[in-house]
Amino acid sequence: MRINGKLVLVSGASSGIGAATAKAMVKAGGRVVLLARRKEALDQVVSEITCADGQVWAYSVDLADADVVTTVTKQITEKLGTPDIIINNAGAGRWLFVDETSPVEAVEMMAVPYFAAFNVTHAFLPVMLMRNSGHIVNISSVGSRFVWPGATAYLAARWAVRGFTEALRADLAGSAIGVTLYESGVVTSPYWKHNLRSRERVPKMAELIPEITPEQAANAIVRGVEKNKRLIVIPFMMKLTYWLHAVFPGVVQWLMTKTGYRRMQGEK
Ligand SMILES: NC(=O)c1ccc[n+]([C@@H]2O[C@H](COP(=O)([O-])OP(=O)(O)OC[C@H]3O[C@@H](n4cnc5c(N)ncnc54)[C@H](OP(=O)(O)O)[C@@H]3O)[C@@H](O)[C@H]2O)c1
Repeated sequence: MRINGKLVLVSGASSGIGAATAKAMVKAGGRVVLLARRKEALDQVVSEITCADGQVWAYSVDLADADVVTTVTKQITEKLGTPDIIINNAGAGRWLFVDETSPVEAVEMMAVPYFAAFNVTHAFLPVMLMRNSGHIVNISSVGSRFVWPGATAYLAARWAVRGFTEALRADLAGSAIGVTLYESGVVTSPYWKHNLRSRERVPKMAELIPEITPEQAANAIVRGVEKNKRLIVIPFMMKLTYWLHAVFPGVVQWLMTKTGYRRMQGEK
């Protein structure tokens, strides 16, 4: 889909991949709607976009709350109309073993990203279907393809995002609405500061794969929308890992597990 002139909604736009994607969408000619909880951080992104002569609106909301999603999506529709492009990017979740994860935190990890992506899509999809146009990008990670130790609820939530994306694409088969799934390795975003104890649990195997910046992720997302890609996998070394996985799934999964984080005896 051509981005120029389109209304683009980006969730989780107050930092990292979301903030960079909002700016990249503006560069490509889009008008952007930003969603996230932290107002000050959103204001900063708004001011950067405004300085670059971009058109931007921001809503400070907690997307873990389904009622809030209903309210804010109505407000957006009344003020700006239905977005042409939705980037479901809001996400959080600490990397923890099952026994370190409280049931409450496990539910929170499903609330955002998975239910937030589902609910935002659910709110805007009827008009997209009526128009028979639109594009939805769901941001996940290699954690929706492989698994490793010490990140159980995080990984389950990313598999949910991937399952939702594939099923949505099946729902929309025959329509002109595009669906893209984004999966990358480590991005140098504030994610690791926001989700403590996670960084140290990245499997050692990932050291072979270069980290990417939020800007690189954002550029890949813009290209993915423009080219109606089904799947974005970056960087190249990660693509190579996917090809290897397609041929030898057991070997790649074994390496992920073998080089993954191990607790010392008695450590919690
Ligand atoms: N960093 C990586 O290595 C990496 C790699 C692949 C995929 N990803 C995925 O990319 C997505 C974005 O992550 P990031 O790396 O850009 O991390 P980040 O800098 O921590 O950004 C997360 C964004 O989600 C928002 N968010 C979190 N909970 C929210 C809630 N309840 N309601 C509304 N907004 C919420 C945050 O805003 P507020 O705190 O202001 O609400 C923030 O804008 C995540 O789903 C992550 O799993 C990350």
